[in-house]
Amino acid sequence: MLLPVKSRRPDASTVAGRSHQVLATWYIWAAIASDQITFKRLVPPARPAGGQELVADLDLQERARSGREQRPYVLLNMASTLDGRAALNGRSGAISGPADHAMFRGLRTVVDAVMAGAGTVRAERYGPLVRDPGDRRVRLERGLSEQPLACVVSASMSLGADIPLLADSGSRVVIITSSRDSLSGARAQLEYVRAARGSGSDLELDLGAAMSELQERLQIRTLLCEGGPHLNSELLARGLVDELFLSLAPKLAGDPAQGESLLRIIAGRSFEPPLELELISAAESESELFLRYAVKTRDRA
Ligand SMILES: NC(=O)c1ccc[n+]([C@@H]2O[C@H](COP(=O)([O-])OP(=O)(O)OC[C@H]3O[C@@H](n4cnc5c(N)ncnc54)[C@H](OP(=O)(O)O)[C@@H]3O)[C@@H](O)[C@H]2O)c1
Repeated sequence: MLLPVKSRRPDASTVAGRSHQVLATWYIWAAIASDQITFKRLVPPARPAGGQELVADLDLQERARSGREQRPYVLLNMASTLDGRAALNGRSGAISGPADHAMFRGLRTVVDAVMAGAGTVRAERYGPLVRDPGDRRVRLERGLSEQPLACVVSASMSLGADIPLLADSGSRVVIITSSRDSLSGARAQLEYVRAARGSGSDLELDLGAAMSELQERLQIRTLLCEGGPHLNSELLARGLVDELFLSLAPKLAGDPAQGESLLRIIAGRSFEPPLELELISAAESESELFLRYAVKTRDRA
């Protein structure tokens, strides 16, 4: 099956249309499928590796086991242009190249769950998380389920049942929400983590409680958050992120077009003083940088 990896978020809509797009998509898919993409490992220095080898060396299970928190070990994976843009025309697809697609896809093969905010799920029209049979096999070999648990964060519950992930009967999706409402019409196997604090107009989602429930009730030990920027800032503000994977694409995009707002990888909050991170590793492929940082802990908001 041809994977629509032209978008950073694989979705069902991107292969339709112009033939050069389809060719580019095919090229990327073929390169990823055969693990042809090579990453130069700069920090710490090591021999070059393919995407699967890189993610296999992340030691996530080990780190999750040594974590003291009553919640999953959380990785944030984001891509940005060199001048800080995290979305171009409302999508992330045009930001990064084949190596980022390989990393994006590889990370999905090493975690128990993948989470995204409803804004991202709507904009990118999320589909089933691991489509390639080879990737599903790799997950099984690692002792994981074939598919990671999909988690979607939404307060409004405004999620159309036609979003490919929700329309897929093979996907298990947890909606993390403060709402008592349920989605109707979805074919995916739906579950809810309802975690609210406050009441009336002050009712808000308790992300910390939701994370604890993911670990305790659903046995999620490692969780990959794929954004977007508003969800990222809420997680970071509550001390719920352990690592940031940042792909820096060798591109400059300048200001957004008229009517489009500027989105960086964090939005909706400022951190004063700024949060501090510590470099764990750096790799390079085709001039794109892959930076892995640990988020230093500090008092929560
Ligand atoms: N460059 C990248 O790597 C990257 C990655 C991901 C996304 N993106 C881009 O980012 C854009 C979408 O990002 P975004 O920041 O607008 O959306 P987002 O963070 O994905 O989602 C925001 C939505 O998630 C729900 N949500 C998040 N935190 C919540 C909380 N604490 N309590 C309750 N609900 C919460 C709400 O959903 P409801 O509205 O349903 O209540 C909120 O409107 C898209 O353009 C996408 O392409 C880029």
